[in-house]
Amino acid sequence: MTEKKTWSDRFEGSLHPAIARFNASIGFDIELIEYDLTGSIAHAKMLAHTGIISVAEAEVLVAGLEQVRTEYREGKFNPGIEQEDVHFAVERRLTEIVGDAGKKLHTARSRNDQVATDIRLYLRDQIEQIRTQLREFQQIILDLAQKNVETLIPGYTHLQRAQPLSLAHHLLAYFQMAQRDWERLGEIYRRTNILPLGSGALAGTTFPIDREYTASLLNFDGICANSLDGVSDRDFAIEFLSAASLIVVHLSRLSEEIILWSSEEFGFVTLKDSCATGSSIMPQKKNPDVPELVRGKTGRVFGHLQGMLVLMKGLPLAYNKDLQEDKEAIFDGVRTVKACLEAMSVLLQEGIEFRTSRLAQAVAEDFSNATDVADYLAARGVPFREAYNLVGKVVKTSLAAGKLLKDLTLEEWKQLHPAFEEDIYLAIAPKQVVAARNSYGGTGFKRVREAIERAKDLLLEQK
Ligand code: ARG
Repeated sequence: MTEKKTWSDRFEGSLHPAIARFNASIGFDIELIEYDLTGSIAHAKMLAHTGIISVAEAEVLVAGLEQVRTEYREGKFNPGIEQEDVHFAVERRLTEIVGDAGKKLHTARSRNDQVATDIRLYLRDQIEQIRTQLREFQQIILDLAQKNVETLIPGYTHLQRAQPLSLAHHLLAYFQMAQRDWERLGEIYRRTNILPLGSGALAGTTFPIDREYTASLLNFDGICANSLDGVSDRDFAIEFLSAASLIVVHLSRLSEEIILWSSEEFGFVTLKDSCATGSSIMPQKKNPDVPELVRGKTGRVFGHLQGMLVLMKGLPLAYNKDLQEDKEAIFDGVRTVKACLEAMSVLLQEGIEFRTSRLAQAVAEDFSNATDVADYLAARGVPFREAYNLVGKVVKTSLAAGKLLKDLTLEEWKQLHPAFEEDIYLAIAPKQVVAARNSYGGTGFKRVREAIERAKDLLLEQK
């Protein structure tokens, strides 16, 4: 590529090499090239549509831009640092290809409204991809839940055994989180899909442009109403990084559970060889690297959110070069969320095996049925607080005697309270303990089956 001077004739000489390096964004904003080309093609068409350039000129521009696209896809267009950024790189290559006509492309446009447009085109595309990934993740959870309605797992509060659960119910909690993530991204999509192009550098343009026309070519739902806001707003990116942070929070919580579950101490799951790694020194080890990496990667997404907030807070209107720093945060945020979703989906789909007999044993050998004894008495007229205290006492004496509640004889139960009958044994059996929690949203098998049906409908109805 021939060396050309970037700036107007006001400038003499060239940039100091260190400053050129410092100033350039081409090293990372090349990621926007497809969107930049698409935006430029629409802009060229609009210029012809409004008579600002001729139709023949627009055709030349569009063909030239498509050639740049082809060259890029074939690996033949690799602009270097001397091009500063993707916008200059494309415009220069275009002018090399089509000649002087290329110099008309930037009529009625600034890099400020151009880059804002590129990022919105990029992000709306990525949001759609991430929403699709969330749907796949939800489907995998749902499949796993369907197979495990009657698989029991200890439920915890404070990481202390609390009450047993249907494993499906536990998994479906993550379905709900992912559902909110999906909805949130849909809302953010709406605010992202607004066109800034036509804002000019900051104040609009003297040319009779048709912004609605450009918006319709690019499938934007609307146009930015204020030119200053159009070029300098990055709220949509901050909202995206906030939603991305919540997605990884959810994945990280699930990761933490899988890490615990795969430990010797819990022993609730086994990781398959395809999704686990070993140690270079300890031959017995199988490590949960996937959930650990997901948990670890959350930090950088939060970091990008924080970085963007700090980036914006002191910026006077309108465009400031600080805004060039938005890109790496957005790109890495997108890449990280996508990678985490993909890895967790694979892990859940084929990398994890629940040790159902271990789980059944776990829920049978603890005091997580204590609430059910209290509920048993309360249902028979004993005030709950009284029943609660009584059962607390039984737990204490049983612990001391190395017994479980199911080991008490009917006589012992009756000594505690005359309301106890033979059916107490059924009431405290783990399956029954779970089955009985049939309040809406609870873990009772009937409710869980209903929840699965609702989840299925939801995936069918909301595409
Ligand atoms: N590379 C720049 C960015 O990413 C493009 C916009 C430059 N605008 C300007 N007035 N210098 O923000």
